[in-house]
Amino acid sequence: MKTKGNIVLKNASELVTCSGFEKKHGKAMSDLHVIKDGAVVIKDGVIEKVGKTEDVLNGMDLTGYDVVDCSGKTITPGFVDSHTHLVFGGYRDEEFSWRLRGDSYVSIMERGGGIAKTVNGTRDASFEELVELGMKRLNSMARFGVTTVESKSGYGLNLEHELKQLEVTKMLNEKHSLDLVSTFMGAHDIPKEYKGRSGDYIDYIIEEMLPVVAERKLAEYCDIFTEDKVFSIEESRELLKAAREQGFKLKMHADEIVRIGGAELAAELHCTSADHLLQASNEGLIKMGEAGTVCTLLPGTAFSLKADFARGRFMIDNNCAVAIATDFNPGSCFTESIPLVISLATLYMNMSIEETITALTINGAAALDRADQIGSIDVGKKGDVVVHEFPSYHFLTYHIGVSTVEKVIKDGRMIYDTTKNEVK
Ligand code: NIG
Ligand code: FE
Repeated sequence: MKTKGNIVLKNASELVTCSGFEKKHGKAMSDLHVIKDGAVVIKDGVIEKVGKTEDVLNGMDLTGYDVVDCSGKTITPGFVDSHTHLVFGGYRDEEFSWRLRGDSYVSIMERGGGIAKTVNGTRDASFEELVELGMKRLNSMARFGVTTVESKSGYGLNLEHELKQLEVTKMLNEKHSLDLVSTFMGAHDIPKEYKGRSGDYIDYIIEEMLPVVAERKLAEYCDIFTEDKVFSIEESRELLKAAREQGFKLKMHADEIVRIGGAELAAELHCTSADHLLQASNEGLIKMGEAGTVCTLLPGTAFSLKADFARGRFMIDNNCAVAIATDFNPGSCFTESIPLVISLATLYMNMSIEETITALTINGAAALDRADQIGSIDVGKKGDVVVHEFPSYHFLTYHIGVSTVEKVIKDGRMIYDTTKNEVK
């Protein structure tokens, strides 16, 4: 439930503001705008004051506020998980073991496993089941300090079941304290009904699905899996242009497995973000930086698929705006773990912890076109912040694979507090 609170967090050893109202490119990703001995005041769910504790509290009447002492702690903005496949039915646990044995993601997909298996599971699941699963998954994400989650459809692959998934997302956004951003991804795979006829399926999406999703206002973004053996560059261009005409903002799954020019298309269309990019060309990435298209990297997926990581270092050195997200989904990356993606970004993608925090906050917000509302601790933004149990933000990578999150504040209300979670 969305309720708004009044809270004062004071005496933080480090207040990592990530200050800014737009995406950060290249070198700018390194500056976290840290305030030592910081405080933040949130009123009616909105950040009202930010600064040194002494200055912020000077003459302030604290009546009506919860006051939390954060001595020895670090405060960051709430994390923005800007790429997830949150709503799905059924799991693919045995497939994970096949991959451990050496089967590739694509070979499993070609045998009718992969996304197609989850399409069956999702079509079979009831609306209520999907809501219940979604609530649990959002709770798990909240415990990792996530306060905004993007959620894609794409396991229905026909009008009825894509709408069901999107309606579930809408319901979750109403019921849960986290904020959800909805993406329509009818072009996640070619459904069995259209096997070998990807062009016809794209026409069906454009003519039969997009208008209904738009009319019912069920999604803000349209996304597509632009990939060899899935949707070509031409099909992607056709769908994305049609989606834009119908009022959608654009995202892409681009150059994940085979380099087919997805990054170049994302730049050409000025998509809000293009995601994965493991195989993207240098030129394509540079063009994305110039176009202002956020490069969203999903290191958990590369890790889980035992693939080479996306070249985050190259992207930042070439002035791209990089975001990081989990890609939480039942196949290629079944994890909502923020500590995992932080470790992978810093240890395997050669990103600094400063760049990684920027990628999970203000640039994650920019990947959802919300850098003016969330992703930093600035006056006027939503009161979404996380208190970490250690005195410096360096612990977010130093404490490997373990969540540093102690308290999560959403819209000025404490929604999670580990200090209340006793082990007896
Ligand atoms: O982002 N690449 C395509 N889509 C998802 C995987 C979905 C699945 O395996 O179910 C991804 O990795
Ligand atoms: Fe994905």
